[in-house]
Amino acid sequence: MKLKALSQVASLAVFSSLSISQVQAATITISCGAVGAEFELCQEGTKAWSKKSGHEVQLVSTPNSSTERLSLYQQILSAGAKDIDVFQIDVVWPGMLQNHLLDLKPYTNGNEEQHFPSLIKNNTVEGRLVAMPWFTDAGVLYYRKDLLEKYNQEIPITWSQLTEVATRIQASERAAGQEKMWGFVWQGRAYEGLTCDALEWIYSHNGGTIISATGKIDIYNEQSVQALNTARDWVGSISPKGVLNYAEEEARGVFQGGNAVFMRNWPYAWSLAQADNSLIKDKVGVTALPKGSSDGNHAGTLGGWQLAVSKYSAHADLAADLVMYLTSYTEQKRRAIKGSYNPTIDALYKDEEVLAKAPFFGDLYSSFVNGVPRPSTVTGKHYSRVSSAFFNATHNVLSGKASAKKALKKLEKKLKRIGKGAWTL
Ligand code: GLC
Repeated sequence: MKLKALSQVASLAVFSSLSISQVQAATITISCGAVGAEFELCQEGTKAWSKKSGHEVQLVSTPNSSTERLSLYQQILSAGAKDIDVFQIDVVWPGMLQNHLLDLKPYTNGNEEQHFPSLIKNNTVEGRLVAMPWFTDAGVLYYRKDLLEKYNQEIPITWSQLTEVATRIQASERAAGQEKMWGFVWQGRAYEGLTCDALEWIYSHNGGTIISATGKIDIYNEQSVQALNTARDWVGSISPKGVLNYAEEEARGVFQGGNAVFMRNWPYAWSLAQADNSLIKDKVGVTALPKGSSDGNHAGTLGGWQLAVSKYSAHADLAADLVMYLTSYTEQKRRAIKGSYNPTIDALYKDEEVLAKAPFFGDLYSSFVNGVPRPSTVTGKHYSRVSSAFFNATHNVLSGKASAKKALKKLEKKLKRIGKGAWTL
């Protein structure tokens, strides 16, 4: 069913990027994300490669939700289908998809050394470099500079300060006639994005990372309970009830429409907030997400996307060449300037043209290099089950179906069941 849906999407969303006619030109198919300006940027990048190489590229757009995209990819890859040569894969997937992906090491020419070593390590499974880093991510806090100034408020350092400031500004703005104003928007749908948000709440309260890097399950603790209770109290007060169904773009829609004081999102939202047609252009600041308390941590979950070549590709060499082009310095620089996509090449964080367009790449550099990783390396191919169990438990708390204590106790049991024999607990 889904495969069919994909080929329909493919035929709708296919874009040829070459006009030169050539007898031996191959066509490479790449799946690109379509969140914000992602698809357009991918199209421009692949066009440039086509021009250089003389080969055609077709783009396939895939669902925005990382969770849905993964199940679609798993179906395509487990069928050994040749439909897609290059896959855009999430930073948490190398362990899950590695069996279907080509080792890119023979194609890199040493270029992987320019990239953050932690990402190269993340993408190396059993000694094989299964994907090249394309852009990195960390959760950040967007705030309305103009509203904080208007009400003489400081940028919040802790979640309780954020709650206080959001409550006050929301009430005052509504009293002044801005009836749609909300204090804080974020990603509350039951999907991978909620795993990222909830990990931030928990880690910033010193509650750990669900499962430690060595495999120890650590989720049923006081700090995690407190973190989830704090978030639950936002729903219906400073955050709309609808936040329980928000992904990245829904949160951005509210914030960019001028209807929220704070937003948790990824860096891509910056270039769109700053676009000429944006209602909030020049009214926005970006800072680190708040700490749980003064002795907690500023925590942004590590996100980001890689490019991988399918083992079933009929054009592996060309596909790998396209990957090397798209992940190169020049292309990452263009994407950083045009779309505020965080480079994975350290040198670009010192590039003045990049910093002029996205100053927070410099200010928040340490959040990007020290993003809090989800437990995907240690859980390997079991990660998606771990993440689903976590986001479903969290969603139950946020929607009032279960208390944080009960939900986390149950989650701990479930994770123990999943982990038994799967990784060293
Ligand atoms: C962003 C991140 C990705 C994460 C996803 C969750 O796309 O880059 O790593 O899984 O958001 O929604």
